[in-house]
Amino acid sequence: MAGDIVILTGAGISAESGLGTFRDAGGIWARYPLEDVATPEGFARDPALVHDFYNARRRQARAASPNPAHAALARLEASWPGRVLIVTQNIDSLHERAGTRAVRHMHGRIDRARCAGCGHRWDAPDEMHPHDACPACTAPRTRPDVVWFGEMPEHMDEIWDRLRAAALFVSIGTSGNVYPAAAFVQDAARAGAYTLELNLDPSAGAADFDETRHGPAGRIVPAWVDEMLART
Ligand code: OAD
Repeated sequence: MAGDIVILTGAGISAESGLGTFRDAGGIWARYPLEDVATPEGFARDPALVHDFYNARRRQARAASPNPAHAALARLEASWPGRVLIVTQNIDSLHERAGTRAVRHMHGRIDRARCAGCGHRWDAPDEMHPHDACPACTAPRTRPDVVWFGEMPEHMDEIWDRLRAAALFVSIGTSGNVYPAAAFVQDAARAGAYTLELNLDPSAGAADFDETRHGPAGRIVPAWVDEMLART
């Protein structure tokens, strides 16, 4: 088998790197109300609270290291004869730090900052604060360069094009609760792709996949990549 592969990743792929997931017991949304820290309305109400939340997540992401699942996907990209695109919902940069080149962050990146006034983007400092000035326009309207609920995810035209061209769609470490990512399995299947889920347990959309394999990403992703590369 050859052809293009699109891989969607979620918080579960970074769990074994020590970064928390959202919806598992004790997950991030059990500890912080989503509407306070991950919506434009929450940011307008209390920007200091939102910056504190993302400053802590930036610290954790910077301290974390890629795990064997990230490394295996970098190996797949390097050796697979077709195109491989990683579409991640994660705001950490563990795919890049494992060596993967083609990564699209549909929910943005914690290590980047954005001006809510002029749209300028730059590398985020360790700590961001509500009155930080934009380096381009000087407006005190800086925010983390992440996508909040109610905002458009990024790179969607390219992602949908690549899903239509994919021979294989793989979903790794995501609960399948957040759209549009949760519908990628149906988009890819409609275009003729074979679909595979690799997750700790069955996701909300597990029934939509041609094949599902369950277990920790650090074990089942390298095993799957070994299988794929043995076929090339
Ligand atoms: P969730 O927390 O909703 O789901 C994580 C999934 O990973 C669950 O299905 C777990 O079973 C699985 N999992 C946990 N540990 C794992 C492991 N070691 N190996 C494999 N799988 C494991 O996170 P996401 O689906 O990524 O959006 O959440 C999607 C979006 O919702 C996030 O990008 C974020 C969140 O609200 C925004 O903030 C906009």
